[in-house]
Amino acid sequence: MKNFVHVAVVLMVVGTGVLLAQAPAGKDLLWAFPVGSAIVQGKHPIAEIEGPQTLPGSTLKYAQKEIENLSAPPDWFPGSHAPAPRIVRDGSGNGGFACGSCHLMNGMGHPESGDVQGLTVDYFVQTMRDYRSGIRKDPIRMTAIAQATSEADVREAAAWFATLKPVPRWSIVEERAMVPKTFLGPGRMRFADIDMPGTEPIGTRIITVPEDVRKAIQRDPRTGAGFVSYVPPGSLARGKALAAGGNGKTIDCTICHGEGLRGLGDVPRLANVHPIYLVRQLYNFQTGANNSAGAQLMKRVVAKLTDADIVDLAAYAGALPR
Ligand code: HEC
Ligand code: HEC
Repeated sequence: MKNFVHVAVVLMVVGTGVLLAQAPAGKDLLWAFPVGSAIVQGKHPIAEIEGPQTLPGSTLKYAQKEIENLSAPPDWFPGSHAPAPRIVRDGSGNGGFACGSCHLMNGMGHPESGDVQGLTVDYFVQTMRDYRSGIRKDPIRMTAIAQATSEADVREAAAWFATLKPVPRWSIVEERAMVPKTFLGPGRMRFADIDMPGTEPIGTRIITVPEDVRKAIQRDPRTGAGFVSYVPPGSLARGKALAAGGNGKTIDCTICHGEGLRGLGDVPRLANVHPIYLVRQLYNFQTGANNSAGAQLMKRVVAKLTDADIVDLAAYAGALPR
């Protein structure tokens, strides 16, 4: 019955085209939960290049349409990693969602998606099972993708992503009181708004934009093509105090996530992960959108956190070195 009610609610929300099911009700969290309906249609962050493009150092050429094909993402530097399993390169086996498109062929991924570099195979496989069963929900993307992907393919993907090395400076975190005005563009990615130049107060938000717009939309997997996250002034210090337990407000994160939040056993690393991804997950534990076995251990951690605390913790963890 409970599941049925939940499905009905999700369908209703999808039906209205809002798809805010993932974000807690009554909160304006579009900056962390960028939904497709918020994309400014027809607006591009930079002039489109007609015809085939290449990257310095690559022998391959792709047109922008090919780069954006979620079923066959570009692999600009195939020699820089072990041969990727089919499901990472080719989505014909799961309805068109090759893992290398949103998570890129470097695993570090786009901030509106997630970072799958540096996870253990067991955590990766378990969390895919949790998406599949619905105990961890991502109505925008991973629920459907996990349901369409076989366990064998998931295992191969997990093992391959586990071989990848981190890309230095992929996610840069900077405190800023004023941030560029931004809009949600193609692919649910946030860009500085060239039609409305200027800045606005950051408020209790994290604003993540590409370090280099062209490189980001080319899905260049190298340093320099990553993302900058602007976080509120003082958030790094406040997040550090909270991560140590915040005088009983929460629990010392290192107990489970390890020194430097670099991961411990199958408890995932948080260090240097896109801060808006971390924000979403902390809310998902609070609302029960992630109610997996692992999530039970996060319940007491998040119980007393305010929105500002969540922003501070995500800023701090995201700024730590890998
Ligand atoms: C269309 C975009 C898209 C594609 C394609 C995609 N993902 Fe994801 N993935 C996401 C998003 C968005 C999230 C974050 C969901 C959330 O906030 O819970 C995510 C999160 C994940 C996570 C959770 C990481 C963590 O730290 O818990 C795993 C694991 C994952 N994806 C694996 C895969 C695999 C395997 C494939 C290929 C079969 C794949 N993804 C394809 C968008 C995508
Ligand atoms: C008692 C153990 C424990 C403590 C303490 C703990 N965590 Fe976790 N955390 C977990 C486990 C287990 C998971 C994996 C949950 C799952 O399987 O979905 C997790 C997952 C997460 C995730 C999602 C990561 C991802 O890749 O999706 C975030 C974010 C997170 N924790 C933040 C924190 C922060 C911040 C703190 C400290 C304030 C903290 N955790 C303290 C056990 C813990």
